[in-house]
Amino acid sequence: MHPKQRLENHYLEQRRVQFDFSQTPEHWIYNNPFATHLINAVHLILPVGELWMCRAFNEALPYVKDEKLRADVKGFVHQEAHHASAHKVAQDYLRHYGYKIDDFIAALDTISKQLNTAPLGLALPQNLAYRWLTVRVGIAAAVEHFTTMLGTWCLDDQPWQNKTADEMMSDLMTWHLAEEVEHRSVAFDLYMHLCGEDNKTFAYLQRQMIMMGVAPGFTLAIYQCFKKLAQQDTQAQRYSQYGLLRSLGQTAIENARSKQVPSFFSMIFSLRHWVKPSYHPYDEGDTLKALEVINNSAAVKALTRLRVC
Ligand SMILES: [Fe+2]
Ligand SMILES: [Fe+2]
Repeated sequence: MHPKQRLENHYLEQRRVQFDFSQTPEHWIYNNPFATHLINAVHLILPVGELWMCRAFNEALPYVKDEKLRADVKGFVHQEAHHASAHKVAQDYLRHYGYKIDDFIAALDTISKQLNTAPLGLALPQNLAYRWLTVRVGIAAAVEHFTTMLGTWCLDDQPWQNKTADEMMSDLMTWHLAEEVEHRSVAFDLYMHLCGEDNKTFAYLQRQMIMMGVAPGFTLAIYQCFKKLAQQDTQAQRYSQYGLLRSLGQTAIENARSKQVPSFFSMIFSLRHWVKPSYHPYDEGDTLKALEVINNSAAVKALTRLRVC
């Protein structure tokens, strides 16, 4: 457990917020199909990825000896499970506008199942099964580095404010990304705990190897989802013709123009922190800012009113 996280003395809670996209237009980031489909890509990936993390973390729980970390892991699982549910509602919104997404989601689900218990379904001896568990939690920590960066970008730049986007979808994305900042340390702390105090060098080397797979894998997955959505929209079809490099370049152009998408290059540049042996996600975000944004979310306020009644 990182000492700063202990001092923070902050406990995670699941906020069972609800979203209704029945009034949300197809291009929910107004007049910006590129930004809409790029951000919508997360609706396809995240429910599968977040539930995959929940399964790995539940499997890791019996190995966690630290009470605060146990509470953090449970809080993390509850938050991620509800993120997945909220994005499933957004998947229905995409289906409502005629987007064919089910084959794609089924393919992602198959990949996630193959990465779950053991690679390719092999039966592993106990020590290798434990090592594989540290790898899976390490993959989650690497993904959480990117979700923390996205969350910090969202909190700082407020990309979909001032009536430039549908308020309901903007609220879902902003609430989710703020909770990503709130729970940013948990996967990393769990990874370090599972690797053990005496294995810090191994843990460092293993997480660098993991990131070499996660950074291109995460980028490719987002690109494929974006392409899948853009090719089904006549107003965005030209973007679906873009190759990977041109699409990545377009994120930088769009970030400079409208600030409504993050720049891919700033995400990659953030890896200069990950490679430091002293890296800890606590230093990458601002919990108080995240909580302020969460408490200002319309969905969270509605939940609070419900609890008071
Ligand atoms: Fe999440
Ligand atoms: Fe997360």
